[in-house]
Amino acid sequence: MPLKITVKGRASEKVLLEEYLTSKDNINLMEYLRAKNIPIASACFGDGVCQKCKITLNQNTVLSCQLMLSDLTNNDILIEVDYL
Ligand code: FES
Repeated sequence: MPLKITVKGRASEKVLLEEYLTSKDNINLMEYLRAKNIPIASACFGDGVCQKCKITLNQNTVLSCQLMLSDLTNNDILIEVDYL
């Protein structure tokens, strides 16, 4: 079953992206979201230091730069970004 990703902005209360992943490229979640034109903040270029790339993933706060797409095991992913 393909993995479904939904991205919501909490500030705008809008769904910004909804799609099914057919392959899990070897990239992190921040890179994936940026490739989809979802602007994820960063001040450390993904080193895991600044904590600006924090997102909520299925109600858990995570650093998007530290989570690889291949680490996503749930088939229904809801990502919420506070400032979007
Ligand atoms: S980009 Fe700095 S902690 Fe993720």
